[in-house]
Amino acid sequence: MSFAPEWLALRAPIDARARDADLARRFAASLPPSPLIVDLGAGTGANALALTPLLPQAGFRLVDNDCALLDIARARVKAEILHTDLTGDLEAPIAGADAISASALMDLVSAPWFDRLAALAASRRLTLLFTLNVDGRHALTPEDRDDGLVFAAFASDQRRDKGFGPALGPDAPRHMETRLASLGATVHLADSAWHVDAAARGLLTEFIGGMAEAAGRAAPAEAASIAAWRQRRQVQIRKGALSLTVGHRDLLAQW
Ligand SMILES: C[S@@+](CC[C@H](N)C(=O)[O-])C[C@H]1O[C@@H](n2cnc3c(N)ncnc32)[C@H](O)[C@@H]1O
Repeated sequence: MSFAPEWLALRAPIDARARDADLARRFAASLPPSPLIVDLGAGTGANALALTPLLPQAGFRLVDNDCALLDIARARVKAEILHTDLTGDLEAPIAGADAISASALMDLVSAPWFDRLAALAASRRLTLLFTLNVDGRHALTPEDRDDGLVFAAFASDQRRDKGFGPALGPDAPRHMETRLASLGATVHLADSAWHVDAAARGLLTEFIGGMAEAAGRAAPAEAASIAAWRQRRQVQIRKGALSLTVGHRDLLAQW
């Protein structure tokens, strides 16, 4: 699955506001001096940029399978860059790491893939910080009669295989917490919901368009209702009359 750099750039300021600062501080405080942090699904380097002020001595290894995104990351972050497909071997990408981080990745992966990563992390007692994992909460203001239909179809698309097997989607926070706790980790979850106000027209337009497209893919029989919903929502965005909340959770795990 590929991600447009324009979309990552649009969401970056909303992500930055949403990240839980306390979990990030606890993550930073738990690491040795000059740690190596491996950031999985690093994209254009947003996660490393968010963590660097808390960890000025840290080295980062940014791992992704998208060369174009990694080229942007290379220009923005001083880091080792590793171009690899994370559906394959995980041992080499995390070799030598003190900690693993990821943002907006774990809802794309499958339960067996996550369990494989969790077992590796547990065997090495690596601290984990996985931020901005969707948890299935959505609220649009004002409400619309077809929100329920669209949200349900969207949630089903979020569980579609993104290359790692059937995706965890909105189950990601609960699955990660349960699995990591079963491996003996102390797990902390924090709210990192997006709160997008009506002024963020660019992000709202992209998000609503993407949501309608995904919902249409999951529920083709409802294509007409979903297209009409999108139309009503785009009119509201243009008028500056739509705001959005998307539930996310950040997770910190330590052994
Ligand atoms: C939603 S983006 C998040 C990017 C970045 N962490 C951020 O917060 O802006 C998901 C990232 O996972 C990467 N990704 C998806 N599947 C991958 C795979 N099989 N191997 C490596 N990276 C992958 C994508 O290229 C993309 O950069």
